[in-house]
Amino acid sequence: MTTKGIILAGGSGTRLHPLTAAFSKQLQPVYDKPMIYYPLSTLMMAGIREVLIISTPQDTPIFERLLGDGSRFGISLSYAVQDQPRGIADAFRVGQAFIGASPVCLILGDNVFYGKLDFLRNALTSNSGATIFGYPVTDPQRYGVVELDAAGRIVSIEEKPAEPRSNLAIPGLYVYSNDVVEIAASLTPGRRGELEITDVHREYMQRNNLHVQPLGRGIAWLDTGTPESLLDASTFIHAIEKRQGLKIGCLEEVALHQGFLSQDAFRECVRKLPHSDYRSYCESLVVM
Ligand code: DAU
Repeated sequence: MTTKGIILAGGSGTRLHPLTAAFSKQLQPVYDKPMIYYPLSTLMMAGIREVLIISTPQDTPIFERLLGDGSRFGISLSYAVQDQPRGIADAFRVGQAFIGASPVCLILGDNVFYGKLDFLRNALTSNSGATIFGYPVTDPQRYGVVELDAAGRIVSIEEKPAEPRSNLAIPGLYVYSNDVVEIAASLTPGRRGELEITDVHREYMQRNNLHVQPLGRGIAWLDTGTPESLLDASTFIHAIEKRQGLKIGCLEEVALHQGFLSQDAFRECVRKLPHSDYRSYCESLVVM
């Protein structure tokens, strides 16, 4: 069964105040695109064509206005409201009807990846249970942290530990079997009063069905959690785009590249874009 995608793009976003006073974090610019373009392009590049976007009551209509039903990118987008930030694992409760009997890939709407996505494509095809990733960082205490033994087996998983047992942070990109729906339904809120994604992983671990894939240094996983890291993410995207003359996270281009849009459908879509550098870039990709 094909994997469905969920982008969780709600939350309170208080750490970026006043940037997020009027609208959510995942709508902020990362250089030349709204932040959510990047996680959506990640799912699309992994071959996922059915995506649910979950956000707050105020922001869900804005995402809908931004991205529509997805048909212009050759995908299907639907929307659901999370009325309170009950935690990341709440995505599987809010998204239960959308998920149905399918496996699911969850990405947090503020997670930006750059690099070859074979690690994700492989996880989607080979996953049994849950697959999460491990990424070396200098500040693991800010993230979910996984500790592996010499053989690569999981020793511990902790959410934002004061004294991390390893430098491997868990990015906000997760691949699950359909069991995640039942697991999320039976969770109770943790210390922070939220339905913790780490508790979902602990449950898979108890079932001997949690897999951690360490990511190599060829992948960039960018943080957008503070004003400074948001600026760094923009600077990173800008530097690569300027050097290569290629855009990162251009949804129309990804749709063309993935074969979600035919050349004709792509031309049609580009003709509807307002005159901008973004449109000129899209026009340069095919003979218009
Ligand atoms: O970015 C990766 C990290 O994301 C992981 O390493 C952590 O294990 C995971 O807990 C998470 O940590 P954060 O500190 O970033 O979690 P936060 O509560 O800020 O939520 C992450 C995103 O999900 C954020 O963009 C807002 C959104 N969100 C969060 C909650 C709790 C929702 O849309 N609804 C929610 O109820």
